[in-house]
Amino acid sequence: MRIVVLTGAGISAESGVPTFRGKEGLWKKYDPRELATPEAFRRDPKTVWEWYNWRREIIAKAEPSEAHRLLAELERRRDLWVITQNVDGLHQRAGSERVIELHGNIWKVRCISCGARYYDRTVPLREIPPRCRECGGLLRPDVVWFGETLPKDALERAYQLSSEADIFLVIGTSAQVYPAAELPLVAKGRGARLIEINPEETPITPYADLSIRKGASEGLRKVIEEI
Ligand code: OAD
Repeated sequence: MRIVVLTGAGISAESGVPTFRGKEGLWKKYDPRELATPEAFRRDPKTVWEWYNWRREIIAKAEPSEAHRLLAELERRRDLWVITQNVDGLHQRAGSERVIELHGNIWKVRCISCGARYYDRTVPLREIPPRCRECGGLLRPDVVWFGETLPKDALERAYQLSSEADIFLVIGTSAQVYPAAELPLVAKGRGARLIEINPEETPITPYADLSIRKGASEGLRKVIEEI
């Protein structure tokens, strides 16, 4: 019985990491075109890095939520995979090992000159924008920006896992961003039982076999009793 979980910013909201959409969402205050596109980075790498540095500071102080921990515990007992749109690494910090990161990781950097990729957990960054330790070139966050394609291996694995899921659990995503938003429908089309945990309705809700209008931790406690 394979369980596949797709997570979004809502699961980390319970760790104090701001979401993107909704009343308090980052995209209410900031324009994604100026902060999360390759064009914005070419135009103004310093501003983009200042924003990422601020987010890294928030994430560094955050602790995995009860929901992150429950998923890590469940992975020890069940055939469970997490596919996440989050870049914060909180699933791994909670102990999850089977994690597919669709949108990259905020602690990883990538050199736009030599292509080196490595983890840099310095908080705050010593130099903005940071420079590559291999060649001195300009580093960028190794995350997926608007207009960019998702990492091929992660995406292929995500589609494969979704099509093999018996239970597909969607937690804390507004399901506005593709291709991630398509995965629950792939799973459902292949016969998975679709369960959604989100305090709000989303485009996934009409397809869900069970929809839990609660926060991630409370909702997950209920689901675990049942599956
Ligand atoms: P969003 O910010 O779009 O959506 C967050 C979702 O979490 C909403 O549906 C909320 O109702 C829900 N939510 C809020 N509090 C919650 C809680 N305590 N428990 C459970 N759910 C809660 O975040 P994502 O769907 O993850 O991409 O956004 C997808 C992508 O858009 C992100 O990965 C990012 C963003 O632009 C890139 O940067 C490429």
